[in-house]
Amino acid sequence: MKKKRILSGMRPTGRLHLGHLVGTLDNWVSLQQEYDCYFMVADWHALMSEYEEPSVINEYSIDNVVDWLACGIDPKKSTVFVQSEVRAHLDLFMIFSCFVPLGWLERCPTYKEQLRQVETRDLNTYGFLGYPVLQAADILAYKAEVVPVGEDQLPHLELTREIVRRFHTLYKTEVFPQPDALLTKVARLVGVDGRKMSKSYNNTINLSDTEEEIYRKVSVMITDPQRIKRTDKGHPEVCNVFSYYTIFAQDRQKQIAESCQSADIGCIDCKKMLADRIIERLKPIWIRRRQFLNQQEEIKLILKEGRQRAEAVAEKTLQEVRQAMKI
Ligand code: TRP
Ligand code: SF4
Repeated sequence: MKKKRILSGMRPTGRLHLGHLVGTLDNWVSLQQEYDCYFMVADWHALMSEYEEPSVINEYSIDNVVDWLACGIDPKKSTVFVQSEVRAHLDLFMIFSCFVPLGWLERCPTYKEQLRQVETRDLNTYGFLGYPVLQAADILAYKAEVVPVGEDQLPHLELTREIVRRFHTLYKTEVFPQPDALLTKVARLVGVDGRKMSKSYNNTINLSDTEEEIYRKVSVMITDPQRIKRTDKGHPEVCNVFSYYTIFAQDRQKQIAESCQSADIGCIDCKKMLADRIIERLKPIWIRRRQFLNQQEEIKLILKEGRQRAEAVAEKTLQEVRQAMKI
């Protein structure tokens, strides 16, 4: 049986952190067996928010790909490529833009939310309004049937499906499948300050951090606010450190909860053990990361082959689109 196709992407706007690892990359890695995967550096999408300081995009594109490979993305199984190196994304973006009603975009919850929340950038632009149209172009260029995304991206997937229906109604030719979301199940990782882990909050533990940085960051993590003295009994269910045990040290979870509740263990020791576990998890990634960083030519080759494979598929779709539209 033919494998179903997956497309997913990440915006290269910063170093990757533990949230990317447990929220996205672990999932991508396991999907590689079952699906025909296309993993994309969404550099055009990054430009939509980083246009004032675009040089970071090139800097992080390669760094992110190095992290993907270090975490187990296998270029023999999956197609790894950079969005802007495949022209058809922009062609489809343009074509879809012609028939996507403004209302669909203005109503989009992610758009409204970002406009409200993001204060460090001016996102009141023509390009940013079209963000989900470009995302639809990404997905549909490969006729991806499955798109692994977080919950926050569901509106973009729904818009993609609406674009498919509109295209088929307008041009009376079925070109695209209606892609389905594959929701990532993992719990969202909080940052060291207890808010969502995010570069813009400066609360991340990065995949490229050193042992010392990890010990330091874990040591300042917010714990149970009611546990002030070492002799105070703790409440693991409200503690950020404890929530990390669920992900990085499940086998210790029960025992830690008990010793925390009875004040047998102090937060310093509890954090130290967690940091040890995170480091243990990251060590093999660090080794591979270092290897890949010393093989820049190899990375370029992987991206070149990825581009060629991606281009072949996307160009074919574009031709079908042009034929359907008679343009
Ligand atoms: N918008 C996605 C995000 O912020 C990134 C992305 C761009 C994407 N194109 C995509 C995800 C296509 C899935 C499919 O996470
Ligand atoms: Fe949190 Fe561990 Fe301290 Fe309990 S002992 S409050 S789980 S850090």
